[in-house]
Amino acid sequence: MGNALTDILAVLPDDAMLRQFHLPKGSMQHVDMKTGDKIWQTLKTMGIQYVAGGSAANTITCTAIFGMKSGFIGKIGDDDLGHLYKSDQEQYGIRSTLLKGTNPSGRAMVFITAPNAERTFAVYLGAALELVPEDLKPEYFEGYDYFHIEGYLVQNQNLVRKAVEYAKAAGCIISLDMASYNVVESNEAFLHDIVDHYVDIVFANESEARAFTRLGPREALDEIAGHCSIAVVKVGKDGSMVRSGDEYHYIEAWPAATIDATGAGDTYAAGFLYAHSLGMPLRACGEIGSIIAAKVVEVIGTKIDIPRWKDAKAEIRSLMAAVNQTQGQD
Ligand SMILES: Nc1ncnc2c1ncn2[C@@H]1O[C@H](COP(=O)(O)OP(=O)(O)OP(=O)(O)O)[C@@H](O)[C@H]1O
Ligand SMILES: [Mg+2]
Repeated sequence: MGNALTDILAVLPDDAMLRQFHLPKGSMQHVDMKTGDKIWQTLKTMGIQYVAGGSAANTITCTAIFGMKSGFIGKIGDDDLGHLYKSDQEQYGIRSTLLKGTNPSGRAMVFITAPNAERTFAVYLGAALELVPEDLKPEYFEGYDYFHIEGYLVQNQNLVRKAVEYAKAAGCIISLDMASYNVVESNEAFLHDIVDHYVDIVFANESEARAFTRLGPREALDEIAGHCSIAVVKVGKDGSMVRSGDEYHYIEAWPAATIDATGAGDTYAAGFLYAHSLGMPLRACGEIGSIIAAKVVEVIGTKIDIPRWKDAKAEIRSLMAAVNQTQGQD
């Protein structure tokens, strides 16, 4: 469950448009409908690309490609972007529960500027923000083994609470991606409560882990692991750490020719959950997350191309075969 946002990607020749819309380079700003429309109209005059996005949606698109039966709960508007979003998910075989709001569909306008493909975001949440607790039904959760939720939704605490209650009642393993350090900072008490009472698997990057615990990554990992069954702290190109009870693993990042790190965390979560669903040991879950994350950093945007998917699947198959062989010897 997450914000249904279409990424509108534009590669800009220079920073002029960023200045025009007062967007600090590299930042993520929320914009209102009027500004959002103005930016979109300006972008339409250039070559732009539309790609279904949003953190949790990116994760479950990946789990669907891995072959897991995946579903998504979110809210879209009754417009072209909403239709595009729906058909994009259907194309991956995702069972979407895309409810309709009254505002236009949410979108993240992504400006990619030279020299390092730096990204600046202007996000209009629109209909995505209209998802309310009353929209949820127990049957949306039934029949699933995992429920994955993005931290961006905690601006609506009642929605998140109802969702995890239904997910727990349906017997799901609940995973939470903390999303961003400002989300954690502004909802700290609530997040602690949810992690203590509902969440089984926590994914946090270094700055989210610090905001949640005031600790560096390694100590934060131990602290979070004391409150859920599996804690994962990701440290970008330096890899990730996982802990469950007394079991700890440091996992190096998989080699990659990085051009754009967007989506690394979302795909890592997908690989991790996929491996977990197959009963892989903890270390292998982290390694499989790292393999797939190393593919998304090699492309612009959050969609891994087919050749890279093939490579990832081959690498994951051989890793799993090695794990199964060692286990067979034990
Ligand atoms: N440059 C890189 N090269 C290889 N792997 C990477 C690179 N950057 C990230 N990864 C992999 O992706 C994982 C998650 O990345 P990161 O720590 O940036 O998460 P995140 O901050 O949640 O990402 P996002 O910005 O997508 O939310 C890392 O643990 C690592 O395995
Ligand atoms: Mg992240």
